[in-house]
Amino acid sequence: MPAKPLPKAELHLHIEGTLEPELAFALAERNGVALPYATTAELRSAYSFTDLQSFLDLYYALMAVLRTEDDFAELADAYLTRAAAQGVRHAEIFFDPQAHTARGVPIGTVIEGLARALDDSERRYGIGTRLIMCFLRDESADSALETFEAARPYLHRICAVGLDSAEVGNPPSKFREVFRRAAEAGLHRVAHAGEEGPAEYITEALDVLGVERIDHGLRCLEDPALVERLARERVPLTVCPLSNVRLRCVDRLADHPLRAMLEAGLLVTVNSDDPSYFGGYVDDNFTAIRDALRLDDETLRLLAANSFHAAFLDDRTRRDYL
Ligand code: ADE
Ligand code: ZN
Repeated sequence: MPAKPLPKAELHLHIEGTLEPELAFALAERNGVALPYATTAELRSAYSFTDLQSFLDLYYALMAVLRTEDDFAELADAYLTRAAAQGVRHAEIFFDPQAHTARGVPIGTVIEGLARALDDSERRYGIGTRLIMCFLRDESADSALETFEAARPYLHRICAVGLDSAEVGNPPSKFREVFRRAAEAGLHRVAHAGEEGPAEYITEALDVLGVERIDHGLRCLEDPALVERLARERVPLTVCPLSNVRLRCVDRLADHPLRAMLEAGLLVTVNSDDPSYFGGYVDDNFTAIRDALRLDDETLRLLAANSFHAAFLDDRTRRDYL
């Protein structure tokens, strides 16, 4: 019998990246959206990426099937069902409002739909949940500000803001003002940095945006002083091993620097990023690195415990999970 998955928190998960081909086809039919693929197998065969942008092109295109509150609720329910089976007890879930509002879907439809599934997630799935609203860094700073203002009526449903999409050429400093407003509104802050972009983007995200976690952060290893700072300040890094291989940030899983990151004293967590596209949910990531990097049980337990230490939880709830 396979071992029971370790209880863990998932902190780097794009809800749109959990859209499985079967659900995409069902929603396409329900909403009268034409997909340029005849079958789910044909769609899956398009999941061969050369870099982050080649993935993002498909990721945004497939979102065309998400139109109603029900669609977003169904998407989140499908993720929570899978996450529960993978040992997830707490999930901090990214969403990309601009990818939907640009298609004419109101931000309230997105947030209310997701919230419907998340509000009841503890009772139905045994998973506590939070929402993290991400800004698309390849859109303008003004677009991020407009999105933040449009989200004001819903901020009670949002735990944090984040920054994602095409990294290179879109440094964190471009989003100084919207992160300032988010901090003023009492929200936590995170950002993708050092996935494809340079180590300086990690430093900027910390110093200019005031982020509390770095999403990915792989390229910190190119700057020993930064590694030392991240370790000293206990800044969590939400690492996504299968994603890193699929998007060619790392050649092979056996070359993944996760072990080196742990040995450098970094607060590393393991996450799935866009599991429908990258070949596995969070426990699949744990299993894959266990095998590829020959991690022992103690290291796996450390990674699971780190996920709760890095989560936006109050101390009492955190203690209950640990
Ligand atoms: N959006 C969804 N997945 C992403 C990733 N891995 N990097 C940047 N933006 C993303
Ligand atoms: Zn991501």
